[in-house]
Amino acid sequence: MYEINVNGETRKADVDPGTPLLWVLRDTLGMTGTKYGCGIAQCGACTVMVDGTALRSCQFPIERVGGARITTIEAIEQDEVGRKVVEAWVEAQVPQCGYCQSGQVMAATALLKETPKPTDQDIADAMTNLCRCGTYNHIAAAVRQAAA
Ligand code: FES
Ligand code: FES
Repeated sequence: MYEINVNGETRKADVDPGTPLLWVLRDTLGMTGTKYGCGIAQCGACTVMVDGTALRSCQFPIERVGGARITTIEAIEQDEVGRKVVEAWVEAQVPQCGYCQSGQVMAATALLKETPKPTDQDIADAMTNLCRCGTYNHIAAAVRQAAA
């Protein structure tokens, strides 16, 4: 039995040690805002924040979570930076199909928490999540807007 801190609450998961955090969030805890894309840490659809840092949860086993604070898209607007990111996302009308967008918002929030005034290069370096709808220009614009 594992006890992990998700969005400020202690949650229990009776799963194998190697179970990826993504599946604990989605299947055990029923928090389906974090998406499954590739399963091999390539696409970023599964991005959450671990102690404020963006992390691809599909390749992060529950046994490595320990006492870290997990933040998911469900609670992102409780974070001051996350709220600004969501507002900028809505204003810039970033999403198309939307599938990748929770991961994009998590990555953007982690970037702005670490680097409140990112350069275009900082944004390019940090926003590596894939978007099959090609919303990259809108994503970059929304990150700049959230930082403004
Ligand atoms: S599902 Fe985790 S990076 Fe693609
Ligand atoms: S909005 Fe469709 S995959 Fe990104």
